[in-house]
Amino acid sequence: MIEEASTTIITTDRVNKMDRMVDLHTHILPGVDDGARDTAETLEMARQAAGRQIRVVAATPHFLGMEWDQIKAETEKLRKLLADHQIDLMVTAGAELLIDPALIDLAKEEIPTYNDAGRYCLIEFPMLELPPYAEQVFFSLQVKGITPIIAHPERNREVIADPNLAAHWIESGCLIQINANSLLGSFGPQVQRVSEIMLKHHMAHFIASDAHSAGRRGFHLGCSVEKAQRLIAPEIAAKLVSTNPARVIAGEPVEVPEVIRYRQQRRFWNFGKQRRDD
Ligand SMILES: [Fe+2]
Repeated sequence: MIEEASTTIITTDRVNKMDRMVDLHTHILPGVDDGARDTAETLEMARQAAGRQIRVVAATPHFLGMEWDQIKAETEKLRKLLADHQIDLMVTAGAELLIDPALIDLAKEEIPTYNDAGRYCLIEFPMLELPPYAEQVFFSLQVKGITPIIAHPERNREVIADPNLAAHWIESGCLIQINANSLLGSFGPQVQRVSEIMLKHHMAHFIASDAHSAGRRGFHLGCSVEKAQRLIAPEIAAKLVSTNPARVIAGEPVEVPEVIRYRQQRRFWNFGKQRRDD
């Protein structure tokens, strides 16, 4: 049975005990963005998540044109919907912010943070470029005590060209979320390769579904973690969908391992050995 709907902070303890996954990035709220179109699709997504060993999802709609209070109210409605349908899935409020200089001027309370804890937010770049004001926006959030979690940077063209950009953001206090579908190859071989590089070089702190439906862009966390467990230590891969996201929702510090710089492979045709370090 689902636990009583609550607006209180979900503690790490409470989440970890359940030994099921925590998904930090979903578009499960009905009719607010390009995710679930209506409550029927939301319910289909929720049943899929619950059936695939996901215990907690953060509802992270695109923040464009929405107010944080509205997202929190919609999330509360979703909790009631899930309880009415006896779907065993906890849901907490969040949002996916598109990086924008206007964020600098928002008061802390206006900025959507996970579980309204004022500690972490999810922020994405446009797909092609890295805006010149990105660092300023990150810094302004950090000054307010909010740690930016960068959503799926492996899909950005400039990060594909230079994965060490992620190392730089981590060293300046950001965290990184990669998409389950990136690791599984749904966005093509380049995105898949960069997501693998990021995993192996300690440049990924979370794997999340970024689910938009119960179909191709559904909850593919389980397969993705299995894939990650073949690339890095299985217990570290497991943390990316359990301990780490649970800590975010609880507003607690996430353990950040030292980043390993990615060194591009070079081909020296006159020398027999080719260095492989990705
Ligand atoms: Fe998203």
